[in-house]
Amino acid sequence: MIAIENLTKRFEGRTVLDRVSVKFQRGKVSAIVGASGCGKSTLLRCINGLERFDEGRIVVGELEVGPATLQRIRLDVGMVFQQYGLFSHMSALANVMEAPLHVRHLSKSAARERAVALLEKVGLSHRREAFPRELSGGEQQRVAIARALAMEPKALLLDEPTAALDPERKAEVVKVLESLAKEGTTMVIVTHEPSVVRGIADHAVVLKSGRVAAEGAPAEVLR
Ligand SMILES: Nc1ncnc2c1ncn2[C@@H]1O[C@H](COP(=O)(O)OP(=O)(O)OP(=O)(O)O)[C@@H](O)[C@H]1O
Ligand SMILES: [Mg+2]
Repeated sequence: MIAIENLTKRFEGRTVLDRVSVKFQRGKVSAIVGASGCGKSTLLRCINGLERFDEGRIVVGELEVGPATLQRIRLDVGMVFQQYGLFSHMSALANVMEAPLHVRHLSKSAARERAVALLEKVGLSHRREAFPRELSGGEQQRVAIARALAMEPKALLLDEPTAALDPERKAEVVKVLESLAKEGTTMVIVTHEPSVVRGIADHAVVLKSGRVAAEGAPAEVLR
């Protein structure tokens, strides 16, 4: 579980997260929705230590997020961004193998085996050897999801994972998110996509000007 208590974050004196308290349950999918600039990305970035915060606390599993735990937290919490961020000089397979090889120190054969299985899971077995520039946006995003999963994170944070995609590519990525949700992957997804909020999320949180304006069952919260 990820527990956030009274999280306050200021940029140059301006409060962008204002005493946010929210829990993301293990094995569940939580959606964060809200207008542009309300603090959604900042909230995700605070959880995996990409951003420092001013007040409050965040606990991931048993670990409290702070300077002493940053490395552990980043191993425990995977991140997927709107703009994929793949290594452009590496094949899809090499992208997925990279962190397990060099951060987890898996053997090359073990890393390869894991990467092959994950690319199959996201429907890209046939595109293993392709480079990012040869892949569609949806394919690149699915490689990015496989790459995050390769570290076997306890939770996956996704920041508008379908926002840059056309409807068809969007649907491919949503399908992957759906199957991960069915397997009980803990996910926190920032999204404007109704099919994700209604169809996949167990819980929805509405942020408004840095505060939690509503939360609960997705259908009710959206209404
Ligand atoms: N590094 C930064 N320095 C100063 N202000 C920042 C910084 N990063 C974000 N902000 C501000 O903090 C507020 C929240 O930004 P954030 O990126 O979390 O919003 P968001 O809800 O993710 O918006 P969007 O839907 O457009 O992605 C915004 O007003 C933004 O301008
Ligand atoms: Mg954002």
